[in-house]
Formats: sequence, C-alpha cells, structure tokens
Amino acid sequence: MKKLLNIKKAITVIMICFGITAIIFTNGCAESKKIAAKSGAQLWAENCQRCHNTPSPSSFSDEQWKTVGMHMQTRAQLTQNERNKVVEFMQSMNK
Ligand code: HEC
Repeated sequence: MKKLLNIKKAITVIMICFGITAIIFTNGCAESKKIAAKSGAQLWAENCQRCHNTPSPSSFSDEQWKTVGMHMQTRAQLTQNERNKVVEFMQSMNK
C-alpha cells in the first residue's frame, strides 16, 4: 500500500514537471509582450534603416507597400504581425 502511494506521488510530480515545461515552452515561443506592443512607426525606425535609407512613404502605392513588406519582412526578420504594422504605418503616412 505504501509503495502504491509512492508511485502515485511520483506520477503527480512528473505531471507537474510536464506542466511547467509546457508553460515555459509556450511562453518562450510566443512573441514577447514588449515587442508585440511596438508601434509600426517604432518598428520601422528600428528595423528599416539598418541596411538602406528608407524610401519616403509616397514612393510606393498601398499595394506596392504590401509587396515591399513581404520582401523586407524576411530581410528585417520581422514577424507577420510586425510586418503588418510597418506596412500599415507606411500606408497611413501616404494619405
Ligand atoms: C537586412 C537588410 C535590410 C533590412 C533590415 C531592410 N531592408 Fe529593405 N532592402 C534591402 C535590400 C538588400 C534591398 C534591395 C534588394 C531587394 O529589393 O530585395 C532592399 C530594398 C528595399 C526597398 C525597395 C527600394 C527600391 O528603391 O526599390 C524598399 C521600399 C525597402 N527595402 C523597404 C524596407 C522596409 C520598409 C524595411 C523595414 C521593414 C526594410 N526595407 C528593411 C535590405 C534590407
């Protein structure tokens, strides 16, 4: 009976460890809140002039900015969300 209790205890401990690992994993892979909170303007300022001067928003149409966004997302290593924000920022400056 004592032995059975120990096994139950061990299983509980293992399950808790799994749970903690799962939480660490899901949080670790999620975009950090700090980065997610950045505005398009901020992301643009921090990422888009590393490699070249930034073209003015009026250099491209809204449609063209979408394409630029797709190309530069990979270059600047932005997430989908960050890319959308930068593209929306460029489009909003273009009005
Ligand atoms: C790692 C370097 C790098 C980063 C970061 C980068 N770019 Fe670029 N960009 C390039 C290179 C190289 C080219 C030219 C070749 C090409 O079009 O792929 C280019 C071309 C462009 C062009 C086309 C210019 C033209 O006259 O046709 C635009 C617009 C542009 N980038 C905007 C951006 C924006 C907006 C960002 C931020 C999200 C960004 N870039 C981040 C390297 C970078």
